[in-house]
Amino acid sequence: MPPLLSLNQVCREFQVRGRQVVAVDTLDLAVEEGEFVTVVGPSGCGKSTLLNLVVGLLPPSAGRIVYRGRAVEGINTAIGYVTQKDNLLPWRTLVENVEIALEIRGAAKNERRRRAGDLIGQVGLSGFEDHYPHELSGGMRQRANIIRTLIYDPELILMDEPFGPLDAQTRIVLQDQLLKLWRASRKTILFITHDLVEAITLADRVVVMTSRPGRVKHIAAVPIPRPRDVYQIHMSSEFREVYNKLWNELRPEVAPA
Ligand SMILES: Nc1ncnc2c1ncn2[C@@H]1O[C@H](COP(=O)(O)OP(=O)(O)OP(=O)(O)O)[C@@H](O)[C@H]1O
Ligand SMILES: [Mg+2]
Repeated sequence: MPPLLSLNQVCREFQVRGRQVVAVDTLDLAVEEGEFVTVVGPSGCGKSTLLNLVVGLLPPSAGRIVYRGRAVEGINTAIGYVTQKDNLLPWRTLVENVEIALEIRGAAKNERRRRAGDLIGQVGLSGFEDHYPHELSGGMRQRANIIRTLIYDPELILMDEPFGPLDAQTRIVLQDQLLKLWRASRKTILFITHDLVEAITLADRVVVMTSRPGRVKHIAAVPIPRPRDVYQIHMSSEFREVYNKLWNELRPEVAPA
């Protein structure tokens, strides 16, 4: 079976005030259906650009992106994109925000409410359906941001540091919820994070990118069985082994000598 998604020698450059910035350089990556792949790399190395290329918001300057055997041209609607900043609509309640994609697709109101209610329950937000975004905590908004993408059942979900602004404890709770949602739905996830512990906890494979221009420096499989205990996993020797290997790859990119 060919991979669900493949990037072959993908480059993307930007012209900024007469200066050329190469954000992504000859990047090769393949993601199999059902895989959970995480990407770590220093700030500004092209991670968000990578996701924008995959979903079709930006065309590559060179190289090819292939999804289910076809070259990506324009926005790929089979892909869900959870952006770094939640973009909940402030004038809609939690449940109205979660069901928006089904509304756009013309689903009946009771069907929308049922699916939104299921997801809201799965991430522990029952009772907050009628709250507006400003009445929710950062962690609650981030959960809403994720389930509003899951509700329309995209095949591939891109996540750009979805837990970035949250405190360490809330992150672990949301990692646990995300792994449970993923297990139940068998989706494919490509997940960007700054946090190497998070990257290993979640992933089947971790991709380390170089500093800009971003390329794939190293890919490591995470041979830790599932289901994983996100509250304890970092203490196991298997985890330490993967962590040390990946940190040796990542450290020179984050803090050059
Ligand atoms: N639309 C754009 N126009 C011009 N330059 C851009 C654009 N998008 C990204 N860049 C540049 O491309 C490079 C990579 O940016 P990108 O946002 O992909 O980095 P990142 O790895 O996501 O960083 P962070 O971890 O801080 O979010 C940066 O130098 C940035 O200035
Ligand atoms: Mg980014």
